[in-house]
Amino acid sequence: MIGIFDSGVGGMTVARAVEQLLPHYPLTYLGDIARTPYGTKSARTIIDYSLENTRFLVDNGAKLIIIACNSAASVATDRLRREFQVPIIEVISPAVEQALMHSQKGRIGIIGTRATIRSGVYETKILAQHPEYKVFSTACPLLVPLVEEGWIGKRETKMILRRYLHTLKDQQIDTLVLGCTHYPLLKHLIQPRIGKKVILIDSSVAVAEYLQHYLAGETTLTPDQSHDPTLNRYFVTDLTESAQFIAAKIFHRPIDLQPV
Ligand code: DGL
Repeated sequence: MIGIFDSGVGGMTVARAVEQLLPHYPLTYLGDIARTPYGTKSARTIIDYSLENTRFLVDNGAKLIIIACNSAASVATDRLRREFQVPIIEVISPAVEQALMHSQKGRIGIIGTRATIRSGVYETKILAQHPEYKVFSTACPLLVPLVEEGWIGKRETKMILRRYLHTLKDQQIDTLVLGCTHYPLLKHLIQPRIGKKVILIDSSVAVAEYLQHYLAGETTLTPDQSHDPTLNRYFVTDLTESAQFIAAKIFHRPIDLQPV
């Protein structure tokens, strides 16, 4: 079984992308809604939460973990790899690879939570491969709570997005990385505000494609052809109405969220 965790519902965009690409692999998801958002917390706290989430998934049978949260991936990946025997896959490297593949002008924008932007992880990874590229990063701390509240189409969300994207717009970026797994839910609002020509990199799709390649060379995790994705399990540390609404929106079907 593949274990996936995030600070809340955002990582379900990753679970959905994995389910669509690899429907025969059983998944278990953990959304730490009770402690969301992670992006405004210190690295130490995010690492502690990530250790607990991974322990929960491994104890429930996970043979591979996806950190479906950029904030957690940016500060906790090394620690999780040291503490656990199972492979730990994170969302950042696959998104960087896709951004490098698509960018023609070498002007790449990154949006993410404070923790992710503060870590400088995207910039470091991009410049390690292309020191001549220009990376422009903007923290968007209000977006995660807005998505968790289900304020996806609200006027206020559009106004806040316009404000966050304003400086990036002046930088003539050709590629924008959605460096938070909540942001694919705002893609339709981001695209017109950043400009039609800018390529959006959705880290949920990037990690699902990366996982597909990874599993092709793996023998410990094999697909179960009889597996039905509707049997995948979705745990949350707090059961809220908006979580149920967003889960159904992401999966286009009702999801039975189980509180733990
Ligand atoms: N989806 C998480 C991410 O990718 C949100 C983190 C948070 O809770 O702030 O960063």
